[in-house]
Amino acid sequence: MDCMVLQGGRRLTGEVSISGAKNAALPILASILLGKGTSTLTNVPAVRDVLTMSKVLTHLGASVEARGDRYTITLPGVASCQAPYELVKTMRASVLALGPLLARWGEAIVALPGGCAIGARPINLHLAALEKMGAEIRIEHGNVHACVRGRLKSARINFDIPTVTGTENVMMAASLADGTTVLENAASEPEVSDLASFLIKRGARISGAGTDVITIDGVPELRGADHEIVPDRVETGTYLIAGAITGGEVRVVRCRPDHCDALLAKLQEAGVALKVEKEAIQVRAGGPLRAVDVKTLPYPGFPTDMQAQMMALMALARGSSVITETVFESRFLHVLELQRMGADIRIEGNHSVVTGVERLSGAPVMASDLRASACLILAGLAAEGETRVSRVYHLDRGYERLDAKLAGLGAQVRREAERV
Ligand code: UD1
Repeated sequence: MDCMVLQGGRRLTGEVSISGAKNAALPILASILLGKGTSTLTNVPAVRDVLTMSKVLTHLGASVEARGDRYTITLPGVASCQAPYELVKTMRASVLALGPLLARWGEAIVALPGGCAIGARPINLHLAALEKMGAEIRIEHGNVHACVRGRLKSARINFDIPTVTGTENVMMAASLADGTTVLENAASEPEVSDLASFLIKRGARISGAGTDVITIDGVPELRGADHEIVPDRVETGTYLIAGAITGGEVRVVRCRPDHCDALLAKLQEAGVALKVEKEAIQVRAGGPLRAVDVKTLPYPGFPTDMQAQMMALMALARGSSVITETVFESRFLHVLELQRMGADIRIEGNHSVVTGVERLSGAPVMASDLRASACLILAGLAAEGETRVSRVYHLDRGYERLDAKLAGLGAQVRREAERV
C-alpha cells in the first residue's frame, strides 16, 4: 500500500489540466450494457474506479480497448447477468449495472453494496423505482436479484431524495421501457446530464436532464455512439483550493466553470480572487482568507464531494465557519485527522464549527475515503513540515495522477510504499 509524503509550505503556481469526470464516466460505461454495438468514449479519466467498471463490463461480456483516455467498447451480447461481489465490494458504483442489465437483458444480479465510510448509502430508491416499472426484486445471499419478463413498463417515479446514481440507474432502464417514464425530484447533477446526452446520441428519447423532472420515452433499442466525458468538477475544485490554500496562483484548464458555481461563489466570499473564463479558472490568493459558512446540498447547491476540501481551506481562514453536511450522515471522518494537524474543529451533529488557525503542522494522517484523502493532501500542502497521508488507494480511485499534477504546480510530493 502506498502513502503520499508532502513537504508543505510551497506556493503552487502554473497550469493544471482537468481530466474527465469519474462520476460521469462510471454511469456512461455501465450504460454500454443497454445495447449491442460499438461506442467510443474520450476524456475517460485514468482512475481506479474506471478500471473496476471496465472489469465489470468485461466480466459481463463486453470487449474494452483502452488507449490513453480513449475507450472503444463493443458489446456483442452479455455473457452473464451477474456483477460479482469481488468487484462490487471495491466500488459502490457497480450498482449502475443493475438498471441496464435488467432493462436490456431481463435479469440482473448485483451484489448489494455494503455500508461505507461516509454513511449507510442504501439503494432502496433505485429498487423501489425499478419495482414500480415491473421488475421483480429479491435480496438473496447478499445480492440484488432483479428480473422482468419482456420489457420494463413506464412509470411516474417521485424520488424521496434526489439520488444521483438512483436517477442514472432508472433513467437508463427507462430508455428501453415500454412507454413514457417521468422522474420527479430527480438529481440534476451535470454527470446525470452527461449520461443523458450519451444515451440520446445512442437513440434514447430523454428530455429534462439537468432539471428535477426528466421524461424518458422508451425505445426498443439503442445503438453505439461516440462521446467525450465532461470535465470533473470535483477535481477542478480540488486544484482551485490547492492554489488558494498555498497562497499560490494556479490556472485550472479544460474545465467547466459553469458546473462549479456554488464552489466559486464560496471561494470568492472567502476572499479568493478568481478569474473565470469559458473553460478555465485562474485562482490567486488575495488577502487573508475569511471564514464562510457552507452547507452541502444536491446540485446546484454546494457539493458534498467538496465539503472536506473546503474544510481544509477554512481551517486556515480568519474567523469561524460552520460547515453543515446534509447529504451523507457521517462524512466528517477527516475532521479527526485535521485536528491532528492542529486544526480547531468541533463537530456538533451534522455541523462542524471550524475556527481558523495561523498554521497547520504536518503529521502522519490516515485517509478514510476519497474526498477525505484530498482534504488531507490539501492540508498537507499548506502545513509546516512533513505530512504523510496513508491509504492513498482512496485517492487513486478518483484522482488521475494527483501527485504528478501537484508536482507540476511545484508541490513537493512523493509516493512511497507504506511502512508497516
Ligand atoms: C453520488 C456520487 C458521489 C456523491 C453523491 C452525492 C457517483 C458514482 N457517486 O453517489 O460521489 O457524493 O452522489 O452527490 O456518482 N439515498 C437513499 N436511498 C437510495 C439512494 C440514496 O436514502 O436509494 C440517500 C443517500 O444515503 C444519501 C442521499 O440519498 O443520503 C444522496 O445519495 P446519492 O445521490 O444516491 O449518492 P450516490 O449516487 O451514491
